[in-house]
Amino acid sequence: MQAGDTMTVTPRPLIAGNWKMNGLREDGLALARALAERVRSTGDAGFDMLVCPPFTLLAEIGLAIDGSGIALGAQDCHQEQQGAHTGDVSAAMLNDMGCRYAIVGHSERRSDHAETDAVVESKAGAAHRQGLVAIVCVGETGDERDSGATLSVVTRQLAGSLPDGASASNTVIAYEPVWAIGTGRTPCPDDVAEVHALVRDRVAAKLGLGKGRGEGEAQARAMRILYGGSVNPSNAAELLTLDDVNGALVGGASLKADDFWSIAERSL
Ligand code: 13P
Repeated sequence: MQAGDTMTVTPRPLIAGNWKMNGLREDGLALARALAERVRSTGDAGFDMLVCPPFTLLAEIGLAIDGSGIALGAQDCHQEQQGAHTGDVSAAMLNDMGCRYAIVGHSERRSDHAETDAVVESKAGAAHRQGLVAIVCVGETGDERDSGATLSVVTRQLAGSLPDGASASNTVIAYEPVWAIGTGRTPCPDDVAEVHALVRDRVAAKLGLGKGRGEGEAQARAMRILYGGSVNPSNAAELLTLDDVNGALVGGASLKADDFWSIAERSL
């Protein structure tokens, strides 16, 4: 089942690996093959798995996981479909390469490349136009959290980053507190639950605009909201089984097949 197929059912967990700027051919392929082998020998494990390697490995990783049920995604896409944008990659190219997902608005893109909510919104729209699921990332910095601004920051980012036409079947939200990424620190479960409930509420409001709150709520219930930031096999169970948490966007721990698989198993 894809997110959005059944509006009344809790979505299956999505366990997504964001490899970031890691992986040469040999280790990337070994990782992908190990995961594909686990899926093949396990059968339907109850979660959906996604890997987002660097652009350079998309073609080869796509072949390595072909037929396994593991989905392929990219870590970014450009907002235009083609043209004079040296070094960029469009959603059309990703679709052509077999991707089904594109992460947009990751905090490292927002900070390294000065991506604003408006840019993220247009990238998500570009992904949608090519039939890709956009994984839209939001999350507060440490300073914002310390000043009590977490909920207002996430609300503002969602309002600015979700394009018209977003739905449970073409959009996943990833809540990634910036201060938790790569630090080994995570919010306490109550804080994660509070933000995820807010995200679902804000998604319902946004997607219900012009269609009625009921439709917005149905879409929001079916939408997958992932937690990301220092997820590992030890903390996965307490974070990923919370209400309103429908999987994880995993960085460092997604580079080890055993750890990534353990995280996925603990999401159920
Ligand atoms: P880590 O799991 O390494 O903290 O990274 C999280 C992340 O940024 C995933 O997109």
